Amino acid sequence: TITAKVDSLLQLMTLEEKVGQMNQYNGSWDVTGPTPKGGDAETKMEHLRKGWVGSMLTVRGAKEVRAVQKIAVEESRLGIPLIIGFDVIHGYKTLSPIPLAESASWDMEAIKRSAEVGAAEASASGINWTFAPMVDVSRDPRWGRVMEGGGEDPFLGSKIAMARVQGFQGDDLSKINTIAATAKHFAAYGFAEAGREYNKVDIGTATLYNIVLPPFKAAKEAGVRSFMNGFNELNGVPVTGSKLLLRDILKDKWDFKGFVISDWASIAELTIHGYAKDDNQAAELAAKAGVDMDMESGVYIKHLVGLVKDGTVSEEVIDDAVRRILRVKFELGLFDDPYKYCDKAREKVVVGSKENHEAVLDMAKKSIVLLKNENSLLPLKKKGQTIALIGALASDDNSPLGSWRIASDDNTAVSVLEGMKKYTDNKLIFEKGADLLTQAPTFINELNFNTSDKSGFPAAIEAAKKADVVVLVLGEHGFQSGEGRSRTNLDLPGVQQELMEKMYEVNPNVVLVLNNGRPLAIEWAANHIPAIVEAWQLGTESGNAIAQVLYGDYNPSGKLPMSFPRNVGQIPVYYNHKNTGRPIDPEPGANMVFWSHYSDVKSTPLYPFGYGLSYTNFSYSNLKLDKKNYGVSEEVKVSVNVTNTGNYDGKEVVQLYIRDLYGSLVRPVRELKGFELAALKKGETKTIQFILNKETLGFYNAEGEYVVEPGDFKVFVGGSSDAQLQDSFTLLDSKL
Ligand code: IFM
Repeated sequence: TITAKVDSLLQLMTLEEKVGQMNQYNGSWDVTGPTPKGGDAETKMEHLRKGWVGSMLTVRGAKEVRAVQKIAVEESRLGIPLIIGFDVIHGYKTLSPIPLAESASWDMEAIKRSAEVGAAEASASGINWTFAPMVDVSRDPRWGRVMEGGGEDPFLGSKIAMARVQGFQGDDLSKINTIAATAKHFAAYGFAEAGREYNKVDIGTATLYNIVLPPFKAAKEAGVRSFMNGFNELNGVPVTGSKLLLRDILKDKWDFKGFVISDWASIAELTIHGYAKDDNQAAELAAKAGVDMDMESGVYIKHLVGLVKDGTVSEEVIDDAVRRILRVKFELGLFDDPYKYCDKAREKVVVGSKENHEAVLDMAKKSIVLLKNENSLLPLKKKGQTIALIGALASDDNSPLGSWRIASDDNTAVSVLEGMKKYTDNKLIFEKGADLLTQAPTFINELNFNTSDKSGFPAAIEAAKKADVVVLVLGEHGFQSGEGRSRTNLDLPGVQQELMEKMYEVNPNVVLVLNNGRPLAIEWAANHIPAIVEAWQLGTESGNAIAQVLYGDYNPSGKLPMSFPRNVGQIPVYYNHKNTGRPIDPEPGANMVFWSHYSDVKSTPLYPFGYGLSYTNFSYSNLKLDKKNYGVSEEVKVSVNVTNTGNYDGKEVVQLYIRDLYGSLVRPVRELKGFELAALKKGETKTIQFILNKETLGFYNAEGEYVVEPGDFKVFVGGSSDAQLQDSFTLLDSKL
């Protein structure tokens, strides 16, 4: 068995070699954090030869990985193979939409398939471990990393976490096209104060257990092989040193058998936080807390041997960590063939294959959310129209690749211009209007926006005047979200707002196509522009997906995984909020002061979680519960009829929310507890059934225990978190 193999290998290892397994170095070229601390390339190679390195990250390509693997296997004393980690976040070279966009599909099969494509390409390029999925729930679009997650909701986030883990890992890790996954960033990183990257987090246990932890637990239950700790501190303790999270909850309570990797240099950062006295103590605290592998800070390899020798850290802690790491290496099959992922011929066939392009195109179409479509401006007519396509992002073939696209080649996305050109029976006039940036963007530099050059406006205005419809592609640059990319402003950067207003002035038939990595504050657009399409950053096939949706070859079915605020001051604004003791949200100016509200705007979001339109319409009726009263461990059966009342076939994400009216901890006004993606032909009605049970009707109390409490509940079903159709039931104490 693997356990026996791990144990017998462990017997052969010196303390230095054991600690070596706990050490991960960055490969030489790409950095995904501050300048590497782990040492120069020469030191790293020397450590590799000594068997002091268990893993490398960002080394990629069958040839390059083979070269480092060869040193570990052929030159180190025991020849233990490296596990090769990489940020396969939304694909490897052929890119899927950014994860937030994929989450808008609510389509777990498609999301799983997308992760499979990433795994297939990465595994053909030497990689056997991804630092994904990021399962951090976040309610703050100022935080740039929302682009990497599943949005604001723990229930949807848990389903997505499972789908992604299954997609990367498949059902057998030893298969050539599967890779180990990582649930990150454990935990609460998405609650960084004020949305400022790496900032501290203060949340109570109710939020920790009910909102933050569920997607991590779901990932664990889906068999994820590793966890990555966050950079943040949580309630005063940097999570890299959190025994509560890593040892007590993850490893003991949840019985997680995989291993924990630190984030980039986060062990050394324990000192900078002001938690450890020095690197030596940082190594001690992280190891004791349960961090099994040190990413790039070099602190473990420098200090752990000494800490064991002087009795500060017990050798059991080291053995436990090494066992966990070796287990995954065995499961991947690296001991049978350390070069199994380094086959250049396979790399050539798999990376960029037609099949992969088809899969990411499919995912891209499913990720698009139709936010507004007044007077059925969309879909566009395919013939006899003049379309003015405006905006620098419309011709951009780089930005749609989004953030975290380290292995992809620059300028390999299909731009909107390219996608639209395929519809040749219309006349297409393209004008940029204005540049978005003044300098070419890179992953590691701040972006420079064009805030003054409007010399392209007159040509764009002329084009708009001549057109039947103006398709305006605006938004954020692909590198404007992601790690280290927090914003205080969620407007359209540069001169884009002005360009939009100018276009609308001369031709109100505007379709706004948004490209962005986070919810934006677009109240002006929502009030004026008749059609708005949320197209995120959709990856390699972006322009094809957008064109197919605009022309109605694909009927959009996406729903927002995160609320869109009216303005930044509302943040955090999210659907599963609490009622407060004074919940009325009067209209601004209604002169009702003593209520939980803002005096200048409504408290509701601009577009709520779960919201999204289609080219057809859906109506909901006949919401039924099989009973009115249930015992706490009984199943509640809910059914509803959904009818496609419009003129197109379409898909609808039917959503079920509950409200637990009172409890020993106050429950949110709504909680998503079920959803189904229903395909309906025009005129068709389907009955959709949901089951609520003790897994969905309870919550975690302040001690982190799961409880189902008797009481009264409401059920809401519809196509958004503000669904109106409702019924109610009572859970009786099972003893009654
Ligand atoms: O995986 C990432 C992590 O999410 C943020 N810091 C760097 C890591 C490795 O690139």
